Amino acid sequence: MSNKFYITTPIYYGNDKQNIGHAYTTILADVLSRYHRAEREEGFFLTGLDEHGQKVQQAAEERGVEPKAHCDEMAPRFLELWEKLHIQNDDFIRTTEKRHIKVVQDILNMVYENGDIYEDEYEGLYSVSEERFITEKEAESGEFRDIKKLKEKNYFFKMSKYQQALIDHINENPGFIQPEHRKNEVLGFLRNPLGDLCISRPKSRLNWGIDLPFDKDYVTYVWFDALINYVTATGFGVDQDSYEKWWPCEYHLIGKDILTTHAVYWPTMLMSAKLPLPKGIFAHGWWLSGESKMSKSLGNVVNPLDLIEEYGVDPVRYYLMREMVLGQDANFTLESFIKRYNSDLANDYGNLLSRVTKLIQSYFDGIVPDPGDNSDDEKSIRDTAERTIVNVHSLINEMKINEGIEETMQFIRNVNKYMEEQAPWKLVKEDKDAGGRVLYTAAEALRVGTLLLNPVMPHRTEIVLKTFNEKDNDLSWGGLKPGTKLQKHTPLFPRINIKKEKSPKVQEDKNLVKYEDFEKLGLKTAEILSAEKVDGADKLYKLQVKLGDEERQIVSGIADHYTADELVGKMIVVVSNLETAIIRGVESKGMLLAASRKEDLSIVVVNKDKVDSGKKAY
Ligand code: MSP
Repeated sequence: MSNKFYITTPIYYGNDKQNIGHAYTTILADVLSRYHRAEREEGFFLTGLDEHGQKVQQAAEERGVEPKAHCDEMAPRFLELWEKLHIQNDDFIRTTEKRHIKVVQDILNMVYENGDIYEDEYEGLYSVSEERFITEKEAESGEFRDIKKLKEKNYFFKMSKYQQALIDHINENPGFIQPEHRKNEVLGFLRNPLGDLCISRPKSRLNWGIDLPFDKDYVTYVWFDALINYVTATGFGVDQDSYEKWWPCEYHLIGKDILTTHAVYWPTMLMSAKLPLPKGIFAHGWWLSGESKMSKSLGNVVNPLDLIEEYGVDPVRYYLMREMVLGQDANFTLESFIKRYNSDLANDYGNLLSRVTKLIQSYFDGIVPDPGDNSDDEKSIRDTAERTIVNVHSLINEMKINEGIEETMQFIRNVNKYMEEQAPWKLVKEDKDAGGRVLYTAAEALRVGTLLLNPVMPHRTEIVLKTFNEKDNDLSWGGLKPGTKLQKHTPLFPRINIKKEKSPKVQEDKNLVKYEDFEKLGLKTAEILSAEKVDGADKLYKLQVKLGDEERQIVSGIADHYTADELVGKMIVVVSNLETAIIRGVESKGMLLAASRKEDLSIVVVNKDKVDSGKKAY
């Protein structure tokens, strides 16, 4: 690895649909750049927003605002999310910025002048949701929505011309597409003839995009525009030194769903513009929720903000990095999150931390004791520390983040075992120096382990490092100075009580529902926007409710008990993932909670001043 690195995340669609998987790519990039920075490499970490195209235009239309105004509202939400997740990016690009529009038009001109853009009339099937023409076969696969037949004149990029050059490049550069199985997937795709890429959209159909510099009646296809952000941000065409310093990047980190655009469209575009190709494209897998793809209709979307509000940022970052094997899918469940937190953070790491600091406080007045002459046991801990540092670095460079973390935790477990065996709490009473030696060794090991975990959990590890008065973040053994006064702090990783723990007797009761089954029930808060009687059904209301940024309709038999005015504005609790039902010919998506006594009925209402709509209810 060189002494500088440039790493990018995909730029996110400028709308308000962030799930834990979206946040994952950015946390991953942040963790990697922090590891590299800790190795004294100079870094550039880019993220941003993909603000053009049909998806964004549609989202704006649905909200009844202009696309630019919509994007201006969304951008601060992303910035706030990144701040809350302790993301330290160096640049945040928005594709509506002038700097980007200019680079896209310059590159389009370069490709055009190179004879790689031609005009053609095309008739075919177009998937509105995917924003691209699809083949008959793809249409039959059932994976594409909003399919239309379209016939229009457009501009095409001669992608096919670069097919062989791309195959050669992939074969000659084994690290270009990672992991290996994704590389094989792309090579498999390239075994079939590569078509040309339609890179324009007539303004009559879509006008939210960057004008084609050679035909003002067209805007640029959103992917041709978006991918270029990676070079715009380096200063392409504006600051040559900066561009040459950072481009090509070390890694484009992406999710597996956008592999073709990054590993086929993007390199061929760069070849045509005669620009260097990225050094690496790494596609990670998907975060599933309860083994399924996260989706609003299933009600299983895990919102990163809810999680960090409840458990703090560092445990969430830790779980995501520890649990996903890069390249494979991973399954998010609250149960595994709590298990992981309790075993690794509360038991292993937190326990070592509180033991070591408490013992130094009690027996050495909070002053780090002298290491003295090391015995074989201390030397073994030191050797393990040094081996761990080397292993963690190479695992991170191989993008095996979860293994790097596991290696560190294994080391922490060894130190806990060493403490058990040495029992410094007894030793100090017999031989204070020997007790001090053990505590020094454990504290120094803890400092090293903490430094290794710092990129993953920057906030809480910083508190530990402050306790040790660590300033240089130096991994060499002996960095902890005897005589250092330890600072006091509150427990960093208190255990989370697992609510679902039940006594064996309770588990025998067949009528009880398992906690994980209860969790599947998507209970959510919802605000009633309007209530209207269903034609021909006196008891039924057709309610329009707001669940976060989603609006939906629920039919409910409460018209005998509430007037429409009494209902509007109330924050209720609904089962959000109930199968859609048709009640008296009216679609109902969900059910509200209510309780009744004989003729009386009361709906469950929560305090609107304390909770927003779309939040999980328990
Ligand atoms: N705008 C395009 C990227 C253009 S890059 C030039 C885009 N945006 S996105 O907002 O839909 O997705 C951003 C990233 O989030 C993608 O890498 C996608 O794979 C990732 N994820 C979205 N949901 C995810 C999971 N559930 N799990 C893991 N990552 C997923 O695509």
